[in-house]
Formats: sequence, C-alpha cells, structure tokens
Amino acid sequence: MIPDTTNARAKTKIVVLISGSGSNLQAFIDARDNRQLNADLVGVISNRPKATGLKRAARAGIASRIIDHQAYPKRLDFDRALAAAVADYNPDLVILAGFMRILSAEFVDRFSGRMLNIHPSLLPKYPGLNTHQRALDAGDNEAGTTVHFVTSQLDGGPPIVQGAVPIISGDSAADIAARVLGVEHVIFPMAVQWYCEGRLSMQDGATLLDGEVLAPTGRTFEA
Ligand code: GRF
Repeated sequence: MIPDTTNARAKTKIVVLISGSGSNLQAFIDARDNRQLNADLVGVISNRPKATGLKRAARAGIASRIIDHQAYPKRLDFDRALAAAVADYNPDLVILAGFMRILSAEFVDRFSGRMLNIHPSLLPKYPGLNTHQRALDAGDNEAGTTVHFVTSQLDGGPPIVQGAVPIISGDSAADIAARVLGVEHVIFPMAVQWYCEGRLSMQDGATLLDGEVLAPTGRTFEA
C-alpha cells in the first residue's frame, strides 16, 4: 500500500541554544511530548559546561554539545565554532532560550529569518540585562517578555508575541522573574509552533503571521 502523504508536513528540526537552567528548553520538551509542538528537537548547545539545561536535554534523549565561550578568546572564533556546531544538526530553526552571549552579525545573518529569541521585557523597553530591576527602578506597574526574530540589533528584531505580568508592591526582581518565566513557558512554544506550521516569517524587518504584518510589539498574549 502506498502511504497517503498529502497532509504530511516534515517536522521542523530545531536546535536550542542555552546558557543556564533551561526551563524554556523544558517547556519545549513538554510541549513536544504533549503534542502541542510538532517539531524535532534535534540538538541542544550550551556555552556553559555546567548549564542545568544540559541535564534536561539528556533526560529527554536530545543530543547536546558544549561550545565553551571561555575556550575562544576571540568572539568571532567562538561564533564560528558555534555556527559550525549548529549547522551540524542541519536545523530549520534555531532557538535562543536563555542563551546569554551576544552573537555577531556573521552568525545572525547565517540564520536570518529562522532564529528566535525570548527577552524578559516588554520590548522596546529594556533591551540588554537586568530588565526586571530596571522595571522596578522605573516604577513600572507591569513587566513581561517578548518572543522575537533575531537580527544583528541586540534584542531589536521584530517581535512576534508579548506577555505581560503585574508588578506587585514589595516584589523583588527575582519575584518578577519567576512570574515572567511562567508566561515564557506558554508563549515561546506557542510562537515556535506557529513557525512549525509555516504561519510565521520575517519579511522586510517585520513579522508576518498568517500573511498579516504584525504591530511593532507583535501579538499580545492574554493569559
Ligand atoms: C529567561 O527569562 C529568558 O527570557 C532570559 O533568560 C531566562 C532563561 O531562563 N533570556 P531558562 O534558562 O530558560 O530557565
């Protein structure tokens, strides 16, 4: 019998880059296992040898590699080693999930349009580090997170989806981070699934979802 492949769509091959705990990586693993994410998680790469996320990958049976940035005094050499390691997996999509290195334009251009990041602020507010403390210092009453395409502008690529959380009186930056992570674990797999379904792309510096150019802050996620 000839199998009916008319509705079959090849699974999107994904490489996830991490630096730390990997709770977002875990969200992808869980979404895949629950069939909310129709993708092959083909590899995990960490720039930190002791990243807890590497244990999560091992538990899930996902291949992993360490490209330790400390072994490369020159940033470009690290980026080239990282790009080669990513390319070895031949991925369709590269996900930065708590990956704490700034990538060169050479790296970003190589994977342009097929690399997503999550940044813990409501961009364009607070690109860079210490986002929650900066929101507290500014007296903001909400914080949040943004999934976006990666361009060579740090945290400046076109947003796909944002989720906000309240800042509650007495909150520390760590309290906000924990609340924000809860939203990240929902919206990041959701956005990646849009990509896997062929609904999401970056065109002329904007995000297209279902053929529609999104607003400059992307979709708003309401819990
Ligand atoms: C997330 O909050 C992400 O937005 C930021 O780093 C954190 C990573 O957490 N870039 P994890 O390693 O996925 O647990």
